[in-house]
Amino acid sequence: MASILVVYGSGEGQTQKVAEHVEDVLSDRGHDVTVRRVTERGDVVVEEFDAVLVGSPVNNRRHRLDVVEFVESNREVLATRPNGFFQLSLASTVPLRWAQDGARQFVDSLVTKTGWHPEHVGRFAGAVKYSQYDPLQRAVFKLVSAVTTGDTDTSRDYEYTDWNEVEAFATTFAEDVERRLTASIEETEHAGTVRLSWVAAGIALLFGVAGVAYWATARQFTPTEC
Ligand SMILES: Cc1cc2nc3c(=O)[nH]c(=O)nc-3n(C[C@H](O)[C@H](O)[C@H](O)COP(=O)(O)O)c2cc1C
Repeated sequence: MASILVVYGSGEGQTQKVAEHVEDVLSDRGHDVTVRRVTERGDVVVEEFDAVLVGSPVNNRRHRLDVVEFVESNREVLATRPNGFFQLSLASTVPLRWAQDGARQFVDSLVTKTGWHPEHVGRFAGAVKYSQYDPLQRAVFKLVSAVTTGDTDTSRDYEYTDWNEVEAFATTFAEDVERRLTASIEETEHAGTVRLSWVAAGIALLFGVAGVAYWATARQFTPTEC
């Protein structure tokens, strides 16, 4: 069992929903999962976790600043354990090359900006939550939706996240964590066995030397017959 931290930022709650789904998948595999909004980490110490996942939506072609700041200040720690990044965007709702390239570029920009190279990357389609937008945002999203998804009914919300994709991402991450944890335990056990063998050899040598010394001493003091 590994301790896994899932840190995320979220505006309208879809990234939070994904983080919680990831938590369910990891917990079902027996891991100890802590999920925290990046701004509400409290006394969470990143170094104390075996593995870390970070999630952010794309807002105005960038990831949330609070998430970027978290990555920047924890880059070195992230690199020393299994780690991954998941992103939500509307670009990923469009099954066209230019849109998929765009979604990939958002991640590339994060890598360039922070110097963190996440080992696992999930690019998920997000949601359009008209019910949570102000009138201007609603109008902008209606326009964008008209040329992308066609979902322009502002009286309801639209969720595009493919939960099977989220599940596959979390499962692959968990498998990697489990494999590396097992390898590290085996390595520790092997090192312990090697150490024990050296101790046993040392003790045997000591007994050998003591035996020879005893024999030599006993021989010297044995009275010789005339
Ligand atoms: C103000 C705003 C700006 C956005 N900008 C982009 C963008 O530039 N590119 C994109 O693909 N999606 C964009 N989106 C879509 C979000 O990434 C998507 O709605 C996501 O599901 C939001 O996640 P959240 O609910 O966790 O905040 C934007 C959404 C909002 C509300």
